[in-house]
Amino acid sequence: MGFTIAIDGPAAAGKGTISKAVAAHFGFAHLDTGLLYRAVGAKVLNGAEPVAAARTLQAEDLNNASLRTADVAQAASRVAVIAEVREALVDFQRAFARRAGGAVLDGRDIGTVICPDATAKLFVTASAEVRAERRFLELEARAADVSREQVLADVKERDERDMNRSEAPLKPAADAIILDTSELTVDGAITQAIAEISRIVKP
Ligand code: CDP
Repeated sequence: MGFTIAIDGPAAAGKGTISKAVAAHFGFAHLDTGLLYRAVGAKVLNGAEPVAAARTLQAEDLNNASLRTADVAQAASRVAVIAEVREALVDFQRAFARRAGGAVLDGRDIGTVICPDATAKLFVTASAEVRAERRFLELEARAADVSREQVLADVKERDERDMNRSEAPLKPAADAIILDTSELTVDGAITQAIAEISRIVKP
């Protein structure tokens, strides 16, 4: 079996950027599991029933630039509390994690629920203010009509819901390495993540 790297953390902590860089460094495939929940959330915003939407999700549903909006992020975190929605997405994530060539999965529950036996687990975090500022700049660059205050409120609301739900709440696995990126540049965070993981993953 290949190596599996689990990268979890709250909204806009830098998981996506770090995961892509880690996957490229080790030559592993990368799955942003947030996209699965965002795709279900987007379908619900268009009138679908959440569990049916999760059960019928197709790979092409993930290739949609509109999944990155703040409204879809909120819808994702609302459908993510539903046990049947999470259950419908488990097999796909575990099959991806077992790829022979190695896999990096990022999300909220990869190290705790989806891949408790992952080779290496990283929990990427940062203060809510720093995360909101990063997300604000990201959304602004995509010409979204948002304010800093609204983005901070959204991030806090989503954290609250993700941490306090009964199904697979957001929390570091007991054996996860914690990486706080509040004071780090993008390059610094990537370098540190690769250094930590390299102690464990030696392809
Ligand atoms: O990019 P960002 O960190 O803002 O969010 P995301 O990773 O795309 O996830 C969107 C939402 O999906 C989260 O707020 C969670 O509620 C949910 N999610 C989850 O419950 N479990 C995962 N493994 C990934 C995402």
